[in-house]
Amino acid sequence: MKPINVGLLGIGTVGGGTWTVLTRNQEEITRRAGRPIQISVVADRNLERARQMTGGAVKLTDDAFSVVDDPSVDIVVELIGGYTVAKDLVLRAIANGKHVVTANKALLANHGNEIFAAAQAKGVMVAFEAAVAGGIPIIKALREGLTANRIQWIAGIINGTTNFILSEMRDKGLAFADVLKEAQRLGYAEADPTFDIEGVDAAHKATLMSAIAFGIPIQFDRCHIEGISKLDAADIRYAEQLGYRIKLLGITKRSERGVELRVHPTLIPAKRLIANVEGAMNAVLVWGDAVGATLYYGKGAGDEPTASAVIADLVDVTRLHTADPNHRVPHLAFQPDQLTDEQVIPMDAVRTAYYLRLRAQDKPGVLADITRILADMNISIDALLQREPEEGEEQTDIVVLTHVALERDVNTAIARIEALDSIAGKVTRIRMEELKG
Ligand code: HSE
Repeated sequence: MKPINVGLLGIGTVGGGTWTVLTRNQEEITRRAGRPIQISVVADRNLERARQMTGGAVKLTDDAFSVVDDPSVDIVVELIGGYTVAKDLVLRAIANGKHVVTANKALLANHGNEIFAAAQAKGVMVAFEAAVAGGIPIIKALREGLTANRIQWIAGIINGTTNFILSEMRDKGLAFADVLKEAQRLGYAEADPTFDIEGVDAAHKATLMSAIAFGIPIQFDRCHIEGISKLDAADIRYAEQLGYRIKLLGITKRSERGVELRVHPTLIPAKRLIANVEGAMNAVLVWGDAVGATLYYGKGAGDEPTASAVIADLVDVTRLHTADPNHRVPHLAFQPDQLTDEQVIPMDAVRTAYYLRLRAQDKPGVLADITRILADMNISIDALLQREPEEGEEQTDIVVLTHVALERDVNTAIARIEALDSIAGKVTRIRMEELKG
């Protein structure tokens, strides 16, 4: 199978992540795309960094224009950022008939109308999943998954730097300036954090979502933008006392008056799921008339999370060449002849943690019997709770939380516990998942 050749412009954080993930998951990505996707040339101003990142396994150049002019390159991935040179490169790649994948929200928010028109005229794709909310597939959700809906509004935490700062201000009661310094020290905030803290980065992303949600041209110049640099820690405290959290939201909404598009600090009820999105995480809440509210959550930045979105776009573009035109996205995501016959494992081979509740007589030795059975079955206890019996009550509830164990062992342990004279009725078993990482 002839590989699809990718010209990578910029091998910094996201470019490096793209190289790593493409290399690591090469086999599965090929099975999904229908053809191998290979980075055939990398352009970067820092050739030494490019050499270290790629191990010298690919052609390197410091002339990005030579890549967009290279006839052997099928797709250009633009990860340079900014909107001067990047704009020239993207337009030239399109003029040369190449598809483009970009993570550049500033470029698209400012010049997207021109770029998409050029791509349309030339019959090429400009894919930009990585430009909004990093690894969260929000563009795909809006453009494809929610396509039946009349979308009414979108509200998103779409800048991790500011969400980290707001979380720290609330948790530690610190002032904005102090947290910003700490965020810079930890690498969460850039040395020049203006675009993040003043809401410009969030506005780029909100503008792109607004266009997709409502079928309107990109109108960044109409976006109202307020950042968090003037936010007082006292307001975060008062909001909290009233049952609210303050988040920097990118909001776009249909109204009778037209489409709203704005970025500003916003009080939201503390009980809302999105109010509990903390640290550098991103989340986007979309309300569609058919589906109601849907929430998309994940990492909005970083090397591999953003690479995840870049590579999804690369696969989409590659499928233009490989898929049945009526079924560009294979029904089961993988190409039909690439499905493996790997079996779903039986339930008793599953490993998870458990909540077990049993009704036991309140007498010496009962707990010892239970813990012995669990120990014999190699089940480790995480926590244990015994409710104090009511006056005159002979039985009580015992709740055991276990560490991760094998379901088959837990089935045996439950059967043995239920067979004890001191245990009444059935053991209640609820499985537990940490859902971490
Ligand atoms: N600087 C952005 C953020 C990530 O803090 O979320 C890239 O868009």
